[in-house]
Amino acid sequence: MTGAISPHRRHLLIAGAAVLGAAASAQLWLPGTARAAEVTLPDGVFSLGIASGDPLPDGIVLWTRLAPDPLNGGGMPDTVVLVEWELAEDDRFRKPVRRGVAQARPEYGHSVHVDVRDLRPDRSYWYRFRASGQISPTGRTRTAPHPHSKGGSLRIALASCQNWQHGYFTPYADMLQQEPDFVLFVGDYIYESTPSSAGPRRHEGTGEPYTLEQYRNRYAQYRTDPDLAAMHANTPWVVTFDDHEVDNDWAGEIPQDPDKQSHDAFVARLTAAFQAYYEHMPVRASAIPNGPHIQMYRRLEFGRLVRLNVLDTRQFRSDQVTSQADAQDPSLTMLGAEQKQWLLDGLHDSPARWNLIASQIMMAETDLQIGEGKLWYYDAWDGYQVERNALLQEFADVRNPVVLSGDRHLTMISDLKTDYGDPDSEVVGAEFVGTSISSNGDQDQAAFHAEWDPRMPDNPHWKLIDAHRGYHLFDIDRHGIDAQVRVVDTVRQPTATPSTYARLRVENGRPGVELA
Ligand SMILES: [Fe+2]
Repeated sequence: MTGAISPHRRHLLIAGAAVLGAAASAQLWLPGTARAAEVTLPDGVFSLGIASGDPLPDGIVLWTRLAPDPLNGGGMPDTVVLVEWELAEDDRFRKPVRRGVAQARPEYGHSVHVDVRDLRPDRSYWYRFRASGQISPTGRTRTAPHPHSKGGSLRIALASCQNWQHGYFTPYADMLQQEPDFVLFVGDYIYESTPSSAGPRRHEGTGEPYTLEQYRNRYAQYRTDPDLAAMHANTPWVVTFDDHEVDNDWAGEIPQDPDKQSHDAFVARLTAAFQAYYEHMPVRASAIPNGPHIQMYRRLEFGRLVRLNVLDTRQFRSDQVTSQADAQDPSLTMLGAEQKQWLLDGLHDSPARWNLIASQIMMAETDLQIGEGKLWYYDAWDGYQVERNALLQEFADVRNPVVLSGDRHLTMISDLKTDYGDPDSEVVGAEFVGTSISSNGDQDQAAFHAEWDPRMPDNPHWKLIDAHRGYHLFDIDRHGIDAQVRVVDTVRQPTATPSTYARLRVENGRPGVELA
């Protein structure tokens, strides 16, 4: 059962995991039995922990990857290993709901993705895995509300940008205490940068990752952060990638430095990076990469309260421009025609009270030039002016659009406007740029404000800017969104003191955001 398999057969095998699960569900998982162990494995097969993700009203993806030697390719034999999984209504597994057996296959790095269905909406479940007599930690997850439910509330944590070398992932310890219904991660889960001794932690390996094994090792190192591992084990995540999961500032099949990476070499790199991404993320089989392509833009529904549109602003974009004039070229696209239509359809026909858009990169304008004239960041939506402005015009006809983004390593909370050239133009939505978990490390706040506060008059749509590390927490109900900017005092050591830096509010039916 090892060796190369065709893509068609591969999908049959993935689907087969669910069938295996159904067949095995009548059997009891008895401590001490070794029924599913084909081989004896080294200790520590669950060193990368467990995770869950992409909650549906009746389903959830459970994830693990067997890797007794995580930083050296995984340390698994080149064979298929059967992994038992179990899901229950309680953390002691006295009320089991589903059991099954999944395949951990060498061609997927012995990762396991179990797409459990026929669950009840808006409920917590507990889960665990067993392989070769070893039992994983117990995880907790949660399904989405019933599709017709109109009331209730939803708590979402928005995170991005966790550079291992810049610090410990201390914001997750606080996030875990806040018990969000799910974590929305909008990119830069790993950084591809070369190991450096300049920060509190050092990347594994000897250079940037290019091969599948090198990307696996990088993901494995990140998963050894205890706060990240605990957050994955205890809360479902909805993830998408930005640039650093592959290569800084890549666009489509164009690398950061085309003079150093040939097209063929970069396509091979994309293929390896996407495969490793799939292997380490709690996502559905729809995200199994097809060579250098991966399907990540998707929608998730949380009753009639929230529709979440998760964008892919990397694979389909035109290459970044280098001048103000070029940023206004109408031929540039960020989303590509197909994704753009998909987004507009999903916004205009939405039954939800809140229409959230997870965008890797900032949508509101950042004018860096103090005084006359403008200067934009070309990697963000500002570099794709015509498509961005047309999208913002559409927002005027969308119910409560709110953009959640990352990339900037700053908190930037803004009104979304139809024309940033006209300060009196219509406010059509709100945007939260959710700082970073660790990227940029502990910043000198006085130096940040000395540099950035003079830009505030040029960017009157900005309601709050801040340079602490942390994340944003949203409590959403029919009447509004209460947002908290949760920050930590340090990422230079493994523990930190968290606090709420600011509170903001978005009112139902009133576009824009205000400090609370
Ligand atoms: Fe980043």
